[in-house]
Amino acid sequence: MEFFEKSLEIDGKIYGNRGALKNNSTTANWDKSCLPDTIQTFDEYKSLYALSINDPNHFWKMAAERLDWYQVPTKIKNTEFDCRSSRGVEIKWYEDGIINVCYNCLDRHIEKDPKAAKEVAIIFEPDTLTEVRHHITYAELLRAVKKFANVLKKHGIKKGDVVTIYMPMVVETCIALLACARIGAIHSVVFGGFSSNSVAERISDCQSIAVITSDFGVRGGKCTPLKSKIDQALTMEQCKTVKTVLVFRRNQGILPLQDDCVEQRNSLQWTDGTDFWVHEELEKVDDNCEPEPMNAEDPLFILYTSGSTGKPKGILHTTGGYLTYASLTFKYTFAYQPGEIYMCTADVGWITGHSYVLYGPLSNRATTVVFEGIPTYPDVSRFWNIIDKHQINIFYTAPTAIRSLMGHDDSFVTRTSRKSLRLLGTVGEPINPEAWRWYYTVVGNSQCSIVDTWWQTETGGFMITPLPNVWPLEPGSATLPFFGIQTQLLSKDTKQPMQPPAEGALCIRDSWPGQARSLYRNHKRFVEVYFEPYPGYYFSGDGCEIKENGYHWITGRVDDVLVISGHNIGTAEVESALVQHHDVAEAAVVGYPDVIKTQGMYCFVTLKDNVAESDALKRELIKTVRDRIGAHVFPDIIHFAPNLPKTRSGKIMRRILRKIVEPDILNLGDTSTLNDPSVVQELIEKSPRTR
Ligand code: PRX
Repeated sequence: MEFFEKSLEIDGKIYGNRGALKNNSTTANWDKSCLPDTIQTFDEYKSLYALSINDPNHFWKMAAERLDWYQVPTKIKNTEFDCRSSRGVEIKWYEDGIINVCYNCLDRHIEKDPKAAKEVAIIFEPDTLTEVRHHITYAELLRAVKKFANVLKKHGIKKGDVVTIYMPMVVETCIALLACARIGAIHSVVFGGFSSNSVAERISDCQSIAVITSDFGVRGGKCTPLKSKIDQALTMEQCKTVKTVLVFRRNQGILPLQDDCVEQRNSLQWTDGTDFWVHEELEKVDDNCEPEPMNAEDPLFILYTSGSTGKPKGILHTTGGYLTYASLTFKYTFAYQPGEIYMCTADVGWITGHSYVLYGPLSNRATTVVFEGIPTYPDVSRFWNIIDKHQINIFYTAPTAIRSLMGHDDSFVTRTSRKSLRLLGTVGEPINPEAWRWYYTVVGNSQCSIVDTWWQTETGGFMITPLPNVWPLEPGSATLPFFGIQTQLLSKDTKQPMQPPAEGALCIRDSWPGQARSLYRNHKRFVEVYFEPYPGYYFSGDGCEIKENGYHWITGRVDDVLVISGHNIGTAEVESALVQHHDVAEAAVVGYPDVIKTQGMYCFVTLKDNVAESDALKRELIKTVRDRIGAHVFPDIIHFAPNLPKTRSGKIMRRILRKIVEPDILNLGDTSTLNDPSVVQELIEKSPRTR
């Protein structure tokens, strides 16, 4: 591969450039019977994109051939998006194909090339800082998965059963997911930070018959109990379906235990006949376990995501289409090359962890890093130290992490080398240009391309994303759609399609293999939420602007739009303006009712370390916003907030901020999923609208 070490800007356009920008197109040699290994030129993208839209059956047949099937599918696409049709919304891909996801992530690599057995599948980086390297090879992982799959079978868990997984971010979690996939059990991972009530709600919704957990987890130096939360959840009537609880002992033997963890382990309650230590059960099984042949449309997993109202939605993903999509998007978007070390900082409790810590990388025979800790422990150099320690080539994280780290002195980054990096990525929320530039220049040393990937739990994989070095980047834009994805803006008022340049509700015109098939046992709600708002389209719930050059700029959730004096203002846009001020680390903007202007604009602002709060600074920030966006945009209230209410995955909970500023503090709703619920009280006390 040719590397251009310094041509970062070509004709003033940023490519970010330790990658494969070539002049010659590989499509010239492409025989059209299988997909090329990487996408290297814009012409190549355009021709393949056109093929994926004009002949999806051909394109997605080639994509499926990247996997190994027991029975290769002959029926590729069979989908209906229109809720008004007599068939109703129905999504089927590869419906006569037979496949096993675990086999595709592990066995086949070794069967095809015995060298793969010794290659590292997972590098585990524990919460505790250590020089020790924990490497798990493909052969070791396969053996561990087979054994654990036999433990599941021994406890009567079989194809089609639902298993809830409530674990910290450790290798055993990956083993648990892969073992479920191997025997055809449907996993439902609940992020380890959720409260026992939230776990109970999710167990009862999917009626799981078993829970896989750990005695505890460790994050940021703190011990977090897990098994005891499951105990509490299982006392609830609605969780009576659970017959077995399999308990991993966290990081058996590899690390010394902190005092609070020892206490936690010693105080564990045990219910005989229900609770089982995994390490004891593993001794009773052998390590032969054939993968279960699954129909492509058999469920692979359920993953809960919060809806704008009501109870969480059990997003249902199936087997063949999901893996085809997660695998191809991983390969192309990261331009993954054999031998590269890849790290995604997400927890397996979220879709990013499913698709891009586990299934995408392993199906491509990649080396993936599993990081147990947080970016700020023991200090804010942690990510950059990990990059050096493991010589990471591709690093994928969330804008919220980037913003929280850029608030500190750059020396926390620059004292590390980061020379191994080739590519950076972001996911989860719009990245403001200021954070993008910091990531690009300081973290990437102005050498690495950034892939800003827009997608959702529901989409299974990347939807709008740059392909590295194939077209120029614009900081803050996720750029262009992935193969097979037809974006369409619709007017929020008239519901009519809009032609770019325009801004509207972001919808998708036709199906792609990775999309969710339904909500678990609630197809009606699935159709209502995603297909009825704009009949004939999948509605993402996001707003988007598409510019003349076709680049997509996500403006945030449609319900995050403020209407002030007849102007629509995206809260993300205002936040982006605020964080461009050198004193601001993070901002969250919400609306509150105003009789004259319809809505007023309330800005929560977190200042960088050592910046003093003052009225003069408030005035400066208001001016910054007006200067950046327009004089019609006027922040009414600036509230300096050292902390914002965030979910454990780092997302700011705007729902709670809206309630504070309305004010409607008696109806804050569920705050149990917050990283630190005490933040809410601090904000209420300081808010001019609640005083
Ligand atoms: O609003 C979009 C935002 O995150 C939402 C999906 O959240 P979730 O299902 O939790 O999945 C997160 C990981 C894929 C989207 O509706 N979002 C995600 N990625 C981006 C984004 N907003 C802007 N830019 C992105 N790159």
